[in-house]
Formats: sequence, structure tokens, C-alpha cells
Amino acid sequence: MSVFSNQSFSEHELVAFRNDRHSGLQAIIAVHSSALGPAVGGCRMYPYASEADALHDVLRLSRGMTHKSALAGLPFGGGKSIIIGDPHKQKNRALLEAMGDFVNSLGGRYITAEDVGTSVADIRTMARRTPYVAGLDDNEHGGDPSPSTAYGVFLGIRTAVRHRYGRDKLDDIGISIQGLGHVGFKLARLLIEDGATVYGADINAANLERAAAELGVRPVSSDEVLFLPVDVVAPCAMGAIWNRESISRLRAGIVCGAANNQLATPADGELLRRRGVLYCPDFLVNAGGIIEAHHQILRSGESERLAHIERIETTLAEVLRLSGERQVSTESVAREMAEDILRGSSCATEGADRSLAA
Ligand code: NAI
Repeated sequence: MSVFSNQSFSEHELVAFRNDRHSGLQAIIAVHSSALGPAVGGCRMYPYASEADALHDVLRLSRGMTHKSALAGLPFGGGKSIIIGDPHKQKNRALLEAMGDFVNSLGGRYITAEDVGTSVADIRTMARRTPYVAGLDDNEHGGDPSPSTAYGVFLGIRTAVRHRYGRDKLDDIGISIQGLGHVGFKLARLLIEDGATVYGADINAANLERAAAELGVRPVSSDEVLFLPVDVVAPCAMGAIWNRESISRLRAGIVCGAANNQLATPADGELLRRRGVLYCPDFLVNAGGIIEAHHQILRSGESERLAHIERIETTLAEVLRLSGERQVSTESVAREMAEDILRGSSCATEGADRSLAA
């Protein structure tokens, strides 16, 4: 398994591996860029089929974090960590503390947070061994970033609907959500409150039943949720779902969801554009959670935090406009905008440093 020749290696500054015999921890931390500040990104625990899959994922996710923070105007670089293992079976205190030691060994170049397969409580356990953690401060949601992520995605959907259909409200707009977990459930609530008809699927039957019973989400099968004849598809589960085959079956005019790395390859962004689908880049519209973490660090007020998340609307509107004008994919436009910010950057670490001192 090679790092430098991996197809997702993109001049990452640092890739570290840890194999801890005592706890059984096998983990990778990738720091893609620290141009804008210390690398911030969640710790994902997942039963990867191979070490190569795990490396591929952490390299892609960390690069995505660089672009996410840059576009969101945050003083953070991009990083991510993964633990190889099944969070339902292999997670325990010794393993999480060993992960805390691993994070600590990088001396603050990487700051961790919750992600798929880890919870705020898990990050608290890591925090017994390292100060380099984010997103633990109590907010009204106990530090959970998903309400802010869902709000950002909701604003993304509204922006795309306005751009495509010239409508400000979501009445009579049909939306299907893949994955009704932390983000998907809250997104469904916001959409239904705004008048949308929401269809949903989840491989976890309990999550689907809850969304149907509490919110009125209309259940559909996991196999068809991405391909329904609706206006918007909102992927809120795992990544790499859009490829030549799945794009050819897509019937919605807009794709806007929280799942990271939805495109299997960058070329799939262009395929979506040619098919006439308005694709809202995931790293742009799902930045609400990391914006929330930033404002927890600064101890900002609610209105400041919301105003920052609401900037997602302006940035997305600009990306959609430029994509139409230049006839290039929204993904390319958004990445170019992020690269421009990185090129013009100076190390603005003040905000993040304050978090560590707190
Ligand atoms: P979660 O783990 O709470 O929810 C994901 C849900 O998707 C689960 O209920 C799971 O059963 C379901 N699922 C998995 N595969 C599925 C499939 N093939 N079909 C239907 N359902 C499926 O995760 P969370 O926190 O809601 O995150 C969702 C996505 O958004 C992830 O890709 C995550 O990386 C991304 N994201 C989350 C943020 C947050 O604040 N939680 C921030 C930014 C991105």
C-alpha cells in the first residue's frame, strides 16, 4: 500500500499511521493543508474492507476539509482521521484513549471532532489524553454539530430551488433523503416545515420508522431513494454514490445533501452538469457543522453563528451562477474558489489557538 502514488494523494502535508497492540487501535491521521490554520476534521470509525480503502478515504476526506474550511471563511486547515473497525462492536475506552494519544502526538497540527461512527461522548473520552479536540462545548444540542449541518444543507436546497425554479418556498417541491440519521432527520424536519413533500430511506429500520412517525416522511426503499422522480435528491449517508451508472438513472433536477465526497471521481461532476442536474458541492453545503464548532470556540452568540452559516447561500448562488456562465461543473467552480482563497491566504490561526487555550 503506497501513500504517494495513491490516486487520492494530493500533496498532503502529513499522513501518520498508528497500530497500538494494547488497545487494538489501527488508525490513520491525514493533514492535507495547514495553510489557513491547524487542520480540523472529524474522526471516522468504519469497518473498512481493506487498509487501502481506509487510506483512500482519509486522504479524500482531509482534502475535502481543506476546501470546506476555506470556502466557509474559517481559520482552519484540512485534516481527518479514521479508525479501522466496527463502531458497534470494537469501540471501547482503551481504544478511544489510544486515539487521543495518537492525536496528541501531532502536537496540535491536527484537531479532531466527531464524525460517522464516533459521537461527542467518544471525543470527550479522547479529550482525556489530548487538548486537540473541537466541538465539545455545550450548546443547546450538547455540542452536536448536526443541527447546524442540516440547516446549511436546507439553505443550499432553498438556494438551488430558487436558482432553478425561481421559487422562494418549498411548497409542492418533492425531496428524497438517503439516510435519516443525525443530519438527514433534522433536514427532513426543516424541509417539511417549509412545505416540501419528503421521501426517505434508511438501512436502519428504526431511523426510518422514527422519521415517518414523528415527521411524516414517506418511506421508500434504499434501492430507489436516489432515483425517484422528485425535484431534489439529498444524500445524507455515505459518499461515492454518483458515478456514470447512478447518474444515468437520476431523475431529479437538483442534488444537494450532507454526505461527504458524493462524487466517485471529479469527472462525475461534469457528467451531472451535462445531464442538466444542478449539483451542490457537498463540501460547500455541509459546512454548517464546522462553522458551529468555530463559533463554539469563539463563544459567539446565536445570531453571529446563524449569519455565518447563512453565507452558504451566497457562496452557493455564486457557484451556480459561474457554473452556468462558464459551462463547467459546480464542483470545479467551488474547488477553484477554495484554491483561490488558499493561494491568497496567510496563517490565520488565532481563532483555533484560542480554542486550545480554553
Ligand atoms: P449518521 O451516521 O447519523 O447517519 C447516516 C444514516 O445513513 C444512518 O441512519 C444510516 O443507517 C444511513 N445509511 C447508511 N447507508 C445507507 C444507505 N445505503 N441507504 C440509506 N441509508 C443509509 O451520520 P450523519 O452525522 O447524519 O452524517 C451523514 C453524512 O453527512 C455523512 O456522510 C457525514 O460525513 C456527512 N456530514 C455530517 C456532518 C454532521 O454534522 N454530522 C457534517 C458534515 C458532513
